[in-house]
Amino acid sequence: MIKIHQNYPLKNSNSFGLESDANIFIEADDLGELITALKNSNIDLSNPLFLGTGSNIILSRPNIGTVIHATNRDVTILEESRDSVLIKCGAGKDWDEFVEWTVSRGYGGLENLSLIPGSVGAAPIQNIGAYGAEVALCVESVLAVDLSKLHQFTLSKEDCHFGYRDSQFKRSESSLWLVWEVIFQLEKDPRVNLTYKPLKEAFPENHRPDIREVREEVIKIRRSKLPDPAEIGNAGSFFKNPVLSACQAGLIRENYPDMPIYYHDPGTVKVPAGWLIEACGWKGFREDKVGVFPRQALVLVNYGGAEARDILDLAEKIVQSVKSTFGIKLEMEVRIV
Ligand code: EPU
Repeated sequence: MIKIHQNYPLKNSNSFGLESDANIFIEADDLGELITALKNSNIDLSNPLFLGTGSNIILSRPNIGTVIHATNRDVTILEESRDSVLIKCGAGKDWDEFVEWTVSRGYGGLENLSLIPGSVGAAPIQNIGAYGAEVALCVESVLAVDLSKLHQFTLSKEDCHFGYRDSQFKRSESSLWLVWEVIFQLEKDPRVNLTYKPLKEAFPENHRPDIREVREEVIKIRRSKLPDPAEIGNAGSFFKNPVLSACQAGLIRENYPDMPIYYHDPGTVKVPAGWLIEACGWKGFREDKVGVFPRQALVLVNYGGAEARDILDLAEKIVQSVKSTFGIKLEMEVRIV
C-alpha cells in the first residue's frame, strides 16, 4: 500500500520534536507500488528525505520537499544452518521490536543494540553501535532502491563500507539510495559480547549471561543514562566520539591524566566526547528551552518548544569550548536536514 500526503506536519516524526512540514510525505510498504507511483508522477525526487523514526536528525528548515517513509515491517527467515540464520527485515520495522524478535527466538548478535531508537532501515546507514557492538557485525547485505533510476539492487556487507557511525549510505553519491530491506546473519548458539566493561561488571564474576539477560541489562543501563525521546526531545549522542592519533591523545593526557581513551584502529584512540563536554562544565547546563542532559553530556535535549537554531547554537558553543580547551574539533553525529 502507498499513501501520499501533502503539507504533512513532521513535529511528531522527529525525536527532537521540531516543527517542520513536508510538501509531499509518502508512506509505502510495497516497493513495486512505490516505484510505479514515482514513475507516474511528477513528485520532486531531486533531494528527498528518507525518514525512519527521525531519531537522529535536526529538521532545520520550516519546509522539507519530499519525504519518503518506508512502512514495510515484514520479518522473514531466508536460510537456516546448524549455527546461523539469515533473516530479512523490512526497513520500516521498529529497531527494538526487531531486536526483541531475534532475542526471543534465541538468535544472537543484536542484543547489545537493544532499545536504540530508530527503524531497521536506518540501522546500517550510520552503523548504529552501543555496548561493544555495531550493527555491521551482523549485516549480511542491504537491499536498496536508487531513486535516480528507480531500480533496486543489493549491496553486500563489503559494499556498505561500514565504519564508526559511518557507511556508504552517508556518501553524497548515495544520497538517492533508499534502504528497503536489511538482511542479517545471526548466531543460533550465540556467544555473548561483554567487551564493554560496565556491561560485564553488571553480572556476577562466574555467571555467563545469555542473550536475554544481556538485552535486559543493556535496557537497564540505557534507561539509567539516556533520556526517553517520548518524554524529552533528543537524538541520542549529538556528537561522535573523536578519533585522535595516540600521540595527540598522549600529549593531552599530560595535562588531563583522567581523560579516558579507547583503542581504535592501530595508532589511533577514541576519546569519549561526553567526558570532554563534561570537563568543559556543560553537563546539566540549561538555557531556556535547550540543554545538556544531566546524566550524559553527549546528549543535547529540547525541554519543549526549542527551534533547530537553539539546539545548533548550543552545539556550536560546546564545539568552541572543547576546541579551545583540548584542541579537539567535535563532529556532529546527528544529521542536519
Ligand atoms: N563520560 C563522562 N561524562 C558523560 C558521559 C560520558 O565522563 O557525561 C565518559 C565516562 O568516562 C564514560 C565514557 O565517557 O565511561 C563513555 O560513556 P558511555 O559509556 O556512556 O558511552 P559514550 O561513549 O558516551 C557511546 C555511543 C552511544 C552508546 C554508548 C554505549 C557514540 C557517539 N555514542 O557513548 O551511542 O549508547 O557508547 O556503548 O559513539 C548514540 O549513538 O546515539 C548513542 C547513544
